[in-house]
Amino acid sequence: MAAPRDRIRIHTGDITRLAVDAIVNAANSSLLGGGGVDGAIHRAAGPELVAECRMLHGCKTGDAKLTKGYRLPARYVIHTVGPVWQGGGKGEAELLTSCYRRSLEIARAHDCRTVAFPAISTGIYRFPKDQATEIAVGAVSGFLEHDALPEIVTFCCFDGQTAELYRQAVAGAGKG
Ligand code: AR6
Repeated sequence: MAAPRDRIRIHTGDITRLAVDAIVNAANSSLLGGGGVDGAIHRAAGPELVAECRMLHGCKTGDAKLTKGYRLPARYVIHTVGPVWQGGGKGEAELLTSCYRRSLEIARAHDCRTVAFPAISTGIYRFPKDQATEIAVGAVSGFLEHDALPEIVTFCCFDGQTAELYRQAVAGAGKG
């Protein structure tokens, strides 16, 4: 099995364009859509997505649920609910770690070879980007160390500055 860092990709752009087995959505606990990447995913997937989401009856913070991808190039969407940043003393780091772990467990259970994540909680939910990036890279690397699936995980960054943070975190994780 290749080392975790050789199975991680960093991509700058719109996650709705990625032809991977599953993209992860930074949703809210209603799973009924919202702004940011959630809004973009629902717009690109079409109205069947919210119809399937309605049948899931929401999702807890730190957990994840899977739907089909409908009009997206991705086969599945894994909807996860990140924590709202409240200063760091409310279990935000553990909850964000759990989002990555649960999403990867669900991806593995559905035989996904390729999965792409947005930077969960770092937009509307205001999680500090540097800490969120360390958590994302740590959680994904830890999972890949023990599991053959997914084979490749892409961090889809909406801008170049975020991509640079991820590059530094992946380089740092390789040194440990
Ligand atoms: N592709 C990739 N990344 C994106 C895209 C995109 N198309 N659009 C935004 N981002 P956010 P959150 C980045 O706010 O903080 C929604 O209303 C963005 O730059 O989408 O987890 C939900 O319904 C940022 O780095 O998610 C919830 O109510 C990252 O995605 C709430 O927002 C996450 O920003 C969730 O907030």
